[in-house]
Amino acid sequence: MSKKKIKAIEALEEAQKIAFAPFVFQTTMTLRKLGVLNYLFEKGNDGGVTIESLSQALSISEYGLSVLLEIAESSDIVEKNSGGGYELSKIGYFLNYNKMTEANLNFTQDVCYQGLFHLHEAIQKGEPSGLKELGPWPTVYEGLSQLPSHVQKSWFEFDHFYSDEIFAEALPLVFRHKPKTLFDIGGNTGKFAVLCCKYDPDVHVRIFDLPGQLAKALSNAEENGLKNRISGQEIDWLSKNPQIHEGADTIWMSQFLDCFSKGEILKILRNCVQSMDATTQLIIIETFTDRQKFDNARFTLEATSLYFTALANGNSKMYQATEFLDLIGQAGLQLKEDLSVGEFHTMFVCKKT
Ligand SMILES: C[S@@+](CC[C@H](N)C(=O)[O-])C[C@H]1O[C@@H](n2cnc3c(N)ncnc32)[C@H](O)[C@@H]1O
Repeated sequence: MSKKKIKAIEALEEAQKIAFAPFVFQTTMTLRKLGVLNYLFEKGNDGGVTIESLSQALSISEYGLSVLLEIAESSDIVEKNSGGGYELSKIGYFLNYNKMTEANLNFTQDVCYQGLFHLHEAIQKGEPSGLKELGPWPTVYEGLSQLPSHVQKSWFEFDHFYSDEIFAEALPLVFRHKPKTLFDIGGNTGKFAVLCCKYDPDVHVRIFDLPGQLAKALSNAEENGLKNRISGQEIDWLSKNPQIHEGADTIWMSQFLDCFSKGEILKILRNCVQSMDATTQLIIIETFTDRQKFDNARFTLEATSLYFTALANGNSKMYQATEFLDLIGQAGLQLKEDLSVGEFHTMFVCKKT
């Protein structure tokens, strides 16, 4: 990447934005929560809304509104016109109404904010030192099914935002091979398993996950009337000798391997290779940092890496595709197809070497 030319005064200004970034973030969350951004969008078009009328309409003190809106204006979240009326800016509009931004904001606030305070310790120890802010688990995955409900909601909305959108596009690709038995490794809530069964009336899906998540996934399968076609097996890939059995036509891993270090990924892939025959497909879906069209998407993935460091497990990240291609080769797999799916994802279809 080429070096950016920037004047010293601009650099100093950018440095202050970073120094006070948490203030701007918390201001945004507060303006959303108090309904100020909604109100400005709905009523601000016609000459803006004054602090006095906002205060009356939303029962918030003028003092409170002044401190929030002043920094929001400097941060280009709102605009103030010459008559003193506030309007929502384009940035403010996206902060309030864009679904991706909403998933990212809530994930940052509810899941990561407090834990990130322990980032330096996490880096030094190679442990998710911030996770203690959420609960007493060795990794976040043991705790997923027990997280406080608002935290759990934000975790799942973030996770689902970045996977649900590609499931519809992925299904026809997965079922070209007409699998009769599909193993969903890291099946989470069972969403993909249910979609598979609805897509193909003959497929049987077996979900592999930690006990808490597996119970959730199987009860979701039951609620969808698919108890007979979706089964499950508890597994902890970090235990001594995790094993999956033979019999899968397709092994599916969607946004699963990024939950592990490179050494662990290799162990998981080698384990899967042992269960595969010459026709089994192993499909990996990931959002790779070196496969993003926009810098902004890469930035989101790099931030997600820090969630893994500080909160999830202390040793995984969002990887580059080149790193995965290396691991695939080392595990005894060969890449058969390299497909782009949706806006952010890559699908690797592999077979046993
Ligand atoms: C980020 S979620 C991905 C979920 C889903 N496949 C998707 O695309 O949305 C990762 C999944 O891996 C599971 N997982 C994480 N660590 C695990 C471990 N040590 N053993 C078994 N499963 C694990 C989690 O419980 C979770 O369901």
